[in-house]
Parts: sequence; structure tokens; C-alpha cells
Amino acid sequence: MVPDGDPKRPRVAVVTGGASGIGAAVIAGLVNAGYVTASLDWAAEEKVSSHGLSISADVRDPESVERAVSRVLSTFGRIDVLVNCAGVGLTKAFLETSISDWNRVVGVNLTGTFLVSQCVARWMAHAGSGAIVNVGSTATVLGTPGQTAYAASKGAVVVASGKVVYGSGDRVAADVATVTA
Ligand SMILES: NC(=O)c1ccc[n+]([C@@H]2O[C@H](COP(=O)([O-])OP(=O)(O)OC[C@H]3O[C@@H](n4cnc5c(N)ncnc54)[C@H](O)[C@@H]3O)[C@@H](O)[C@H]2O)c1
Repeated sequence: MVPDGDPKRPRVAVVTGGASGIGAAVIAGLVNAGYVTASLDWAAEEKVSSHGLSISADVRDPESVERAVSRVLSTFGRIDVLVNCAGVGLTKAFLETSISDWNRVVGVNLTGTFLVSQCVARWMAHAGSGAIVNVGSTATVLGTPGQTAYAASKGAVVVASGKVVYGSGDRVAADVATVTA
């Protein structure tokens, strides 16, 4: 679907992981700033409220992401901002970290950020503007014990964010920034 991106419609922000914590606070801030919001969170119930949509979606699953982003576009007609906030943590000794621990952390924090960003950036490229904010972590620079998988996943998000903007051969679809909490 190719929406019209009508400039008269309110600006729309998609926030992954918007059902709790930092994501919920980001949504509150965006609503205060006049945005209509769509929260994509696997722990969320589907609902429509005065400030936007809550959509149940798993950021690791391409079909779930595609369905959720299509729902946002068919409801609001545009996406101006994406905040990739969905994340999972892990503090576990390196020697005890299982492949399933690793895949869970990398799957949500890194693959999820990639999938949602790519899906939304396709529309932003078509619209000619947009902004993506990825949530990193100080774990990428601090040597916190037991955070190998978590720091690796967030570090990769930080590196990949820069490449979307500056990477040769990439069409620049959006301004991408990483914030650390
Ligand atoms: N809290 C901190 O001190 C801190 C520090 C640095 C970075 N961060 C980062 O900030 C972000 C938010 O952290 P938080 O503390 O608010 O955590 P939180 O657990 O309160 O919120 C994370 C949200 O992501 C959702 N989520 C998890 N897996 C998902 C999936 N597969 N699909 C869709 N949604 C999924 C959860 O349901 C939850 O609502 C995370 O990326 C985290 O790594 C947090």
C-alpha cells in the first residue's frame, strides 16, 4: 500500500516496546508534543485510544511487523517517526549464556530493530522524510559483567544506525539516531 502522506494529517510516531517502561514514557512525551502514536508491543492488547493505536506485534517476526506497520499506515496514512525501544536484557555469566539466551537477546534488540526499521524506512523513503531513533545502552561502552549478549546486541544497533545514514550504496531513507539510556 502506498499512502498519501497528507501533510494536513497529524504527525505519526511508531514506538516499539511502548507497553511499558521507557517506551510508554516516550509515547507520553510524543502525545504531549502533538503526535498520534502507535505502540507495537508483543505484550499489548489491541486497542484504539484517544492518542492512537496499541498493536500486538512481535518485532522479531517479519510478518507480524509487516502487518502492524500496514495497520498504522492504513489507519493514519503516514509515519513520521519511529522509536525502536522494544528490548530485552540479560545479565548472565558468559560461560553460562546459552544459544537460546543469545538468540532471544539478539533477536529482539538487533533483528527486531532491523525488521521494523526496514519496513518503516520503505515508507519514509517513498514519503521523502522521516526520523528513526534507536535505543542503545551504556552497556555498549561500560564493561558490565554478564552483559556480553546484551552489549553485543546494542553495540550492533549503534553501528548499524550509523550505516543506514552513511553507508555507501544505501539509499538514505531516514535520519537515524541512537540514544543511550
Ligand atoms: N531500563 C534501563 O535502565 C535501560 C538502560 C539502557 C537501555 N535500555 C533499553 O531501553 C529499552 C526499554 O527498556 P525498559 O527498561 O523500558 O524495558 P521494559 O521491559 O519495561 O520494556 C520493554 C518493552 O519491550 C517489549 N518487547 C520485548 N520483546 C518484544 C518483542 N519481541 N516484540 C515486541 N515487543 C517486545 C516488552 O513487552 C516491553 O513492553 C530497551 O531497548 C532497553 O534495552 C533500558
